[in-house]
Amino acid sequence: MQTYELIVKKRDGKTLTPEEIEFIIDGYVGETIPDYQVAALAMAIYFQGMSKEETVALTRALVKSGETIDLSDIEGIKVDKHSTGGVGDKVTLVLIPLLAALGFRVAKMSGRGLGHTGGTVDKLEGIPGFRIDLTNQEFREQVNSLGAAIIGQTANLAPGDKKLYGLRDVTGTVDSIPLIASSIMSKKIAGGASNIVLDVKFGKGAFMQDLEQARHLAQTMVEIARGMGRKARAVLSCMEQPLGRAVGNNIEVMEAQASLEGQGPADLKEVVMALAVAAYQMEKPEMDIDSIQEKIETCWQKGQARDKFLQLVMAQGGNLSEKLPLAPEFILEAQQEGYVQGLDARSIGRASMVLGAGRRVKEEKINHEVGILLHKKIGDWVDKGEALAAVYASDQGQFKKVKAELGRAWSIQKERKDPPSLIDNIIG
Ligand code: URA
Repeated sequence: MQTYELIVKKRDGKTLTPEEIEFIIDGYVGETIPDYQVAALAMAIYFQGMSKEETVALTRALVKSGETIDLSDIEGIKVDKHSTGGVGDKVTLVLIPLLAALGFRVAKMSGRGLGHTGGTVDKLEGIPGFRIDLTNQEFREQVNSLGAAIIGQTANLAPGDKKLYGLRDVTGTVDSIPLIASSIMSKKIAGGASNIVLDVKFGKGAFMQDLEQARHLAQTMVEIARGMGRKARAVLSCMEQPLGRAVGNNIEVMEAQASLEGQGPADLKEVVMALAVAAYQMEKPEMDIDSIQEKIETCWQKGQARDKFLQLVMAQGGNLSEKLPLAPEFILEAQQEGYVQGLDARSIGRASMVLGAGRRVKEEKINHEVGILLHKKIGDWVDKGEALAAVYASDQGQFKKVKAELGRAWSIQKERKDPPSLIDNIIG
């Protein structure tokens, strides 16, 4: 097989066979095919797209490029969850213990945040003593005994994706739905779960800002799962404004705890509920949605999900006996009165990153104590001089650095507008 011919084949809009796709990925990982040829192929895919069969074949080849996790010795229904990333997205911290309390088994590998979006691993690392680096055996044992464990991504899961993603990042080929879908799903499939729930975000603060594109991505990921003998459902959730009120690390863990206590924000609960229902429906399609919701609600209200969270934290060495620390508080005041018509999630995410809660480049260290607590969200009335947000910053200088951009994130008008509806659709 000649790589040159395969590039030309794709460039001309023809379909690659699974063998041809595997040849490329194997050669790229094995370093017999150079970066520049794979970059050319990625660009051809960017313009020509891929069929469903090609996308499944690419995912399979990426999975095969590294280790896979075998969860077959763990009893029960093994669920995994993935979010395409957002601002204030602490869904994993609530959903995973909730699913475990409902009887599912969740072996969750999470990532770190990059750019304006946060990552679960960063949030958990703010808990004193919390270990995200369990050994393979500890990880399995905890999933078996407790029903859930959350660890950082292990190095050798889908290394072909890591290499390809790095190349796409510098060659303008990230924004291709078949490439994104196969990249995400290769890591989920390699992670071993039989059932996968996907939280695909759309809107200003999301990776996929356009709803149609987000729907297409969700559909493609669900098709990949099916093509590889797994079950998947995708929830499309809005990321126009941040989810919940807390954006940062410690502050998001605190909000997740409040949610587990039944005192969290309604929008966070709505997204968690939609994903938990999706997980349930995959296994029990015959059960009606009201009964499923009632079951989940009861489990939540009885504090079973909260107990699971505390057990998970303890099992992984974490200590939540004291309140997590926050940096000094500064108040961002409204410059005019009116209704909040817009709250730009991307600007809030960027300001949180500048405060130190996120990182611009992978190597950067983060500060768990800084963050933003939103007092006013879309649809709320605000008086002139009233607090739009509390900003937790290392010092006054740091607050001043973000104040102007942060202030522009709120659009305040005379007319009231309802908040955008949160869940667009469930796919799968
Ligand atoms: N996240 C991934 O894991 N892969 C992509 O291609 C894009 C986002």
